[in-house]
Amino acid sequence: MKESNDLEEMGELKSFWVIDTPDTNFDMLKKGLSVDVAILGAGIVGITAALFLKEAGLSVALIEAERVIKDVTANTTAKVTAAHNIIYSNLESHFGKDGARIYGEANQKSIDKIESIVKERNIDCDFRRLPCYIYSENPDERDMLKKEAKAAADAGLNATYTETSPLPFEIAGAVQYENQAEFHPRKYLLNLIQSINGDNSYIFENTRALNIKEGDINEVITDKGPIKAKNVIVATHFPIYDPSHLFAKMYPSMSYAIGVYLNEPFPKGMYVSTQPTITYRSSPSDKGDIVIVSGANHKVGHEPDTIAFYKKLEKHARDHFNVKSIDYHWSTQDNITMDNVPYIGKIESKSKGVYVATGFMKWGMTNGTVAAMIISDLILGNDNPWSSFFDPSRSKPKLESAKEFIGTNIDVAKELLSGRLSRPKSIKPSELENSEGRIIKVDGKKVAAYKDEDGKVYAVSSACVHLGCQVVWNNAEKTWDCPCHGSRYRYDGKVIHAPALGDLPEYKDLEK
Ligand code: FES
Repeated sequence: MKESNDLEEMGELKSFWVIDTPDTNFDMLKKGLSVDVAILGAGIVGITAALFLKEAGLSVALIEAERVIKDVTANTTAKVTAAHNIIYSNLESHFGKDGARIYGEANQKSIDKIESIVKERNIDCDFRRLPCYIYSENPDERDMLKKEAKAAADAGLNATYTETSPLPFEIAGAVQYENQAEFHPRKYLLNLIQSINGDNSYIFENTRALNIKEGDINEVITDKGPIKAKNVIVATHFPIYDPSHLFAKMYPSMSYAIGVYLNEPFPKGMYVSTQPTITYRSSPSDKGDIVIVSGANHKVGHEPDTIAFYKKLEKHARDHFNVKSIDYHWSTQDNITMDNVPYIGKIESKSKGVYVATGFMKWGMTNGTVAAMIISDLILGNDNPWSSFFDPSRSKPKLESAKEFIGTNIDVAKELLSGRLSRPKSIKPSELENSEGRIIKVDGKKVAAYKDEDGKVYAVSSACVHLGCQVVWNNAEKTWDCPCHGSRYRYDGKVIHAPALGDLPEYKDLEK
């Protein structure tokens, strides 16, 4: 499939949050060390937990495979809200009113926690309280929204049903949540990391965790040396250490974002359209308010033309707003759990001190802060009112939810086995057209091959190094994406997203 460079008019392929803030330059681990807590992954969970634990008097080592706050946390829309699309009516039916209340309380309190950190540290991160609207343009969804508004209010949130909003187009109905917030995630977290290094605590970049040897004192094996720690937090988005097989209870979902300037003012608030799922928020920038439009979700590695998803987002934005320009585009992925609740707490194993935080269902700013609060409390021996609800080893979800989920994962397996997504042709990598990436068959072996704009060919194994699923070409970002658990690799096979811990081997190595 020859590709046109169809995204040229959508600006730079980079998150606005990354463009708008300086890079970091922390050392890599040079020799083994011992700390109280080793934290794997420097996104919102890892950094917030590191701050809480260091403030409580423990020594921490926060390690990041590449650079801090550059992966999922940097690609979020950064809505700091407990309004997680349609969730409270579902939680109520799966977990009862108490479950919905705990989820709502934890997420609403995490907004307060972030606000108090911003105030205490005087962080200039564009934090502001705003309402959030979960809305639909379809009158058939009014009853569903009324039910959701009631469930959210019963869960203790300031939520009401309405048929008006500040948006410049008509809506059929909405759940209006008061007292929500938004911020600039990198400005916030770049401030927090200033307090981590020093006094026997550390941040290491370019240091990849590879495994954990469990014991009374755990040992984190990294590519730069070991770190011994009584407690370890696995905050690598998809867990890189997973003895309880959470990978079988989650699937990765991709979503897209565009950074847009409008010819009209953007109305005060955050907005989530239920069908299709598209969200909007604005943020101050040097050129005035930028509007981040996000959505167009699909399972990672399940779509042969990812450019089309950016185009869907663009069309939606242009159909609903007077768009002046699109300056940035980027994508991200998140993990969807079997019962729509994140897995936060002690890893299900014999371990005394290994904790995990994952499955934030695309609402990582609040759920990630909830995770940092819960895990810090567990490590410090404090009571936490939400910990058993989020516990990764909680009892199984109700049958309908499990059936639906298992159906999704069987669907993944079928597609992988049938090769429906790739249909490899028997050609040599050099026979590809410029800018083309695809799975091909060479001497009977499947090879992931890409020929760049200048004709240079890259050929790597098509088998993901995590558990062997076949990777799929992502034409918008020139990456190889794994449909099973969301590992991603650059066009040349270099790993850029866990759970894979290494690169795809070069094709020439396969022939040895
Ligand atoms: Fe698990 Fe690829 S991410 S097999």
